[in-house]
Amino acid sequence: MDLKQEISALEEEVRGHLSTIETLEGLERFRVGYLGKKGKVTLLTKRLGTLPREERPEAGKEINRLKAWVEAELERKTHTVKEALRQKRLAEERVDITLPGRRVPRGRDHPITLVSREITDIFVGMGFEAVEGPEVELDYYNFEALNIPKDHPARDMQDTFYISDNVVLRTHTSPVQVRTMEKQRPPVRVIALGVVYRCDSDVTHTPMFHQVEGLLVDKNITMGDLKGVLTRFVHLMFGKDVGVRFRPSYFPFTEPSAEVDIQCVICKGKGCRVCGNTGWLEILGCGMVDPAVYGFVDYDPETVSGFAWGLGVERVAMLKYGINDLRSFFENDLRFLSQF
Ligand code: FA5
Ligand code: MG
Repeated sequence: MDLKQEISALEEEVRGHLSTIETLEGLERFRVGYLGKKGKVTLLTKRLGTLPREERPEAGKEINRLKAWVEAELERKTHTVKEALRQKRLAEERVDITLPGRRVPRGRDHPITLVSREITDIFVGMGFEAVEGPEVELDYYNFEALNIPKDHPARDMQDTFYISDNVVLRTHTSPVQVRTMEKQRPPVRVIALGVVYRCDSDVTHTPMFHQVEGLLVDKNITMGDLKGVLTRFVHLMFGKDVGVRFRPSYFPFTEPSAEVDIQCVICKGKGCRVCGNTGWLEILGCGMVDPAVYGFVDYDPETVSGFAWGLGVERVAMLKYGINDLRSFFENDLRFLSQF
C-alpha cells in the first residue's frame, strides 16, 4: 500500500477511534496509540527513511500534516470530553433549592416575664413608677428598718439565706420601700419588681421567686385606697368574676395588715393540693405603712400616711395559666415553656 493510501486509511481510523472516546483514560490510550513513541503516526515518520530520496519531501509534508491534524483532533476531543465530564459532575452535585429550609427554633418569653410585664403595665397605668433595688441586701434594709426586730421569726436561718452577719439575699422586695423613702419625699408612688430568695420549696414555694412591691405615701391615704387599688388590679388581671378576699394578717412593717387570696383556679375553690384544701391561694401581703417605718426614713406620721403590698408573681402566673406546681416555672423544660 502506498504511503498516501496509508495516511488516508489512518485518518479514517483516527476519526472512528476518536468518536468512541468518553473518558480521560480513553484519551490517553489514544495519544499513546497514535502519537506516542510507538504510536502509529510516529512509526510512519520513522518509515520516511525507507522511501526513495525524491519521494521523501512530499511524503514528509504529508506525514507532518497528518501529525498536526491528529494533535489538533486530540486537543478538540480532550476539550469535549472534559466539558462532558464537568456537566455530568454538576448534574450529580446539583442542590435542590426547592427543598424547604431547616427551621431555626425560635425562643420565646418565659411565662414569668409575660406576667411580670402585664402586672407592671397595670400599675404603671394607675400612675405608679417602676424602681429597683439590690438582690444582695443589707440586714438593715431587709429587716431592721422594716421594724423586724433581731429576734423576729422571719430572721430564722430556715427562711433567710445569709451572706454574712449583716448581708442577706433579700427575702422580699420590701427593702426597696425603705430605699425609696430615703431618697424621696412624699408623695411617693412606686412599684419594685424583682427576685427574692427564701429557703423554701413545695408546690407553691420555690427558693427563688419574684415579687412586685408597691408603695404609696401621700396625705390622707386610707385602707380604702389600698383596697381600691388592689381590687382593681385583681379585676384587670383575672377578670371581674374571680373570687377575691382580704384576710386580716400581720407584718411588722404594716398596721393594719392583710393578705389577699384568689379563688384557686386549679380546683375552682373546691379544695386541692395546690390550695392546701382551702379553695384559696394567697397572692400578696399588704397593709398601711407602720409609723415605726416612717421613723427610719424621717417621714412625719402625723402628716402623711400610705400603704404597701408585696405580690407573688409566680402565684399570679400559676393562677393565670392553671399551673399546679410552681416549681415547673424554673425547671426549664422546653415542653412546658413553649406553651406560653
Ligand atoms: C412578704 O414578703 C411581705 N414583704 C409582703 C408585704 C409587702 C406586706 C408590703 C405588707 C406590705 P409574704 O412572705 O407573705 O409577705 O410573701 C408575699 C407573697 O409572696 C405571698 O403572698 C406569695 O404570693 C409570695 N411568696 C411567698 N413565698 C413564696 C415562695 N417561696 N415561692 C413563691 N412565692 C412566694
Ligand atoms: Mg404571706
